[in-house]
Amino acid sequence: MGTRRTLTLWKRQVLVFFVFLGLSRVSTGSLHYSVEEETEIGSFVANLARDLGLGVVELSSREARVVSDDNKKHLHLNLMTGDMLLSERLDREELCDSIQPCVLPFQVVLENPLQFYQAELHVTDINDHSPTFLDKEISIKIPESATIGSTFLIENAQDLDIGSNSLHKYSISPNSHFYIKINDSGNGKIYPELVLDRALDHEEESELRLTLTALDGGSPPRSGTISIFIKVLDINDNAPEFAQSFYEVQVPEDMPIGSSIIAISAKDLDLGNYGIISYSFLHAPESIRKTFNINPTSGEVNLRSLLDFEVIQSYSVNIQATDGGGLSAKCTLSVKVLDINDNAPEVTISSIAKTIPENASETLVALFSVRDQDSGDNGRILCSVQDDLPFILKPTFKNFFTLLSEKALDRESRAEYNITITATDLGTPRLTTQHTITVQVSDVNDNAPAFTQTFYTLFVQENNSPALHIGTISATDSDSGSNARIIYSLLPAHDPQLALDSLISINADNGQLFALRALDYEALQTFEFRVGATDQGSPALSSQALVRVLVLDANDNAPFVLYPLQNASAPCTELLPRAAEPGYLVSKVVAVDSDSGQNSWLSFQLLKATEPGLFSVWAHNGEVRTSRLLSERDAPKHRLLLLVKDNGDPPRSASVTLHVLLVDGFSQPYLPLPEVVRDSVPDEDALTLYLVIALVSVSLLFLMSLLLFVGVRLCRRARAASLGGCSVPEGHFPGHLVDVSGAETLSQNYQYEVCLMGGTGTNEFKFLKPVIPSLQLHEASSNMQENENFRNSLGFNFQ
Ligand SMILES: *[C@@H]1O[C@H](CO)[C@@H](O)[C@H](O)[C@H]1NC(C)=O
Ligand SMILES: *[C@@H]1O[C@H](CO)[C@@H](O)[C@H](O)[C@H]1NC(C)=O
Ligand SMILES: *[C@@H]1O[C@H](CO)[C@@H](O)[C@H](O)[C@H]1NC(C)=O
Ligand SMILES: *[C@@H]1O[C@H](CO)[C@@H](O)[C@H](O)[C@H]1NC(C)=O
Repeated sequence: MGTRRTLTLWKRQVLVFFVFLGLSRVSTGSLHYSVEEETEIGSFVANLARDLGLGVVELSSREARVVSDDNKKHLHLNLMTGDMLLSERLDREELCDSIQPCVLPFQVVLENPLQFYQAELHVTDINDHSPTFLDKEISIKIPESATIGSTFLIENAQDLDIGSNSLHKYSISPNSHFYIKINDSGNGKIYPELVLDRALDHEEESELRLTLTALDGGSPPRSGTISIFIKVLDINDNAPEFAQSFYEVQVPEDMPIGSSIIAISAKDLDLGNYGIISYSFLHAPESIRKTFNINPTSGEVNLRSLLDFEVIQSYSVNIQATDGGGLSAKCTLSVKVLDINDNAPEVTISSIAKTIPENASETLVALFSVRDQDSGDNGRILCSVQDDLPFILKPTFKNFFTLLSEKALDRESRAEYNITITATDLGTPRLTTQHTITVQVSDVNDNAPAFTQTFYTLFVQENNSPALHIGTISATDSDSGSNARIIYSLLPAHDPQLALDSLISINADNGQLFALRALDYEALQTFEFRVGATDQGSPALSSQALVRVLVLDANDNAPFVLYPLQNASAPCTELLPRAAEPGYLVSKVVAVDSDSGQNSWLSFQLLKATEPGLFSVWAHNGEVRTSRLLSERDAPKHRLLLLVKDNGDPPRSASVTLHVLLVDGFSQPYLPLPEVVRDSVPDEDALTLYLVIALVSVSLLFLMSLLLFVGVRLCRRARAASLGGCSVPEGHFPGHLVDVSGAETLSQNYQYEVCLMGGTGTNEFKFLKPVIPSLQLHEASSNMQENENFRNSLGFNFQ
């Protein structure tokens, strides 16, 4: 029954609703197959592989399936051979009833890409049903006065087969009174009529028993019989008469069982038994007897079972009124069933892609069909999905829709969609069906790893232990699975001099960086390298970041004394004239410290002297001067022990021994006789003083402006390079210290030398002159032969 419903329905829907045919990926042309009903399960119907022109391998790899409109599995596709076989016994009478031809539409659906073919299966009839009478016996009352040629309607037989297999003829058992006449109604049905051939006589024969045989036209023919019981009656004058010969009534399909739909009535003018009328259905097929009931005495017709517009839309039934004397009349009742919107739309998913790749646009997600068993507006369907999802519906053919993704999706923003297909009919009230399908978006490697920082700065204290973990870089990848698994690596350094592999190693899995060996600030203060993060997708994506390692200085170098040379074979001895004034410059200790910053700020201190109080050391420049006038009593030989200490924590120091020899007589360079000069030309001396003061002020001015200029330039550059130049934390520079930062720093700064000639009292003054910037103090130590010049040089370091 269901199928019959479907067929009538889809036909209607095609006409009413599915006028559009946006055929996308649907192969035009359809396949037609034919099979006899009642064929054995598993019988061969067709070879689909051959008919579709596809290989068997493709058929199975594309998961070919047979989908029927009514969602029943009539056919089975053997993917190994491509054969389409019957998966159930088809009963034409059940599938199509009297509809001819009996056609079962179905689709062949292929996946990847989704594609479908229209096909039809014709089910042909075989003579598998015999004609049957619904009653066992017909009883007819005939008055003896009946004239020859009178016809009496009798029950017809039913045969479910169609065409030539349907009912063909009737015959009656041999008798002397009646013969059978066939009334061909023209609609394919034939009705038997009993015709009186020889007059009856109640007194002679009051009862007759005949057998009626119905034969179909099959080969061989099948037959069914019924017995006819005839009662010959005395005379009855008047036959019953119906008020109308045709009654029509409209009944909504939801009418409850037992409801009265109409009352038919007939009149008979006879009195007594001949005037009593009984009502009955005439020639009523089983479907009518199951649905309606007639009260034999009142003529009221009521419902015996529920009506269903979707199955039968109208009934036509003959009603016979028979009086007690056997005379009868006939009328026709037409029952029109009215449609009620009692069926919600149905959504049948034929094929669904559970996952779709995120980079594919306009991908087929699902193929589904909708239907509504109601008719008219009650059967019109509107189909929709949520507006806010990137999916659209596209009608394909008949009542089929495809669900497509509208644009490429992004798994990183949404990995799962619940798409609700809503089918609503236009009846009153509206009925709605929803079907939700879940679609997963599969990942494509479309996101490169992203470092948490583009630039990492790591600080390492020098003299670190080897394999020290100095920092971790990390990157994230918003893809999933292996597309998000990140491998870290060191990229080849830009600077070919940098042996990166021996300095740094990286843990490929977690991005931890290790210093492979102890770093030395004095050798390498900073270095940069690039790191890469690569995901495991295909193709893999990668990104880079820059890592700068800054080595922090530790106070690991003691001050180194350049002058006086400590390892000289003969200790260096300073000569001091006994006539020297207090404050006479005896010598100057020159020392450097290869650390930087505070660690290289030096201070000088007199530890021990043969004659305490005679010499003093300037803490910040290492100048050794006399602190009083010398007397004859002072010993000629003096030994001074000085300490040079840096400002590190803890501080490191070096000691230096200075030998001083007091001498009496001095040649010109050593003894300029300041007393005499000063006494004889005091004005000149004053003039020299003024000159010196003027020169010093000019020089100072020049120095300050230069200092300002250089300072501004350097600080700008330093700020630009962020942590670059100002890397070493500098405290407040204490006044009593000398900054002799590490060799490299020194070379990059401007250095000026103030040279004071010979003794204090002399009048020669050299202008400040720039020292070649690349001069390194280590190298400078080799030029120590020029003692005289060097001992008086004072390094200023302008930062
Ligand atoms: C056949 O039957 C119909 C009603 O069933 C009747 O009207 C008609 O006269 C009949 N035809 C013959 C030839 O008897
Ligand atoms: C989607 O990504 C896969 C894998 O990266 C690639 O093979 C395919 O061609 C892409 N498809 C489109 C439509 O870009
Ligand atoms: C989809 O539906 C399932 C089951 O109802 C639910 O667990 C899931 O969270 C839903 N997903 C989204 C994205 O709404
Ligand atoms: C003294 O030491 C310095 C540096 O350590 C070295 O260059 C120089 O040759 C040494 N001089 C002598 C005489 O040993």
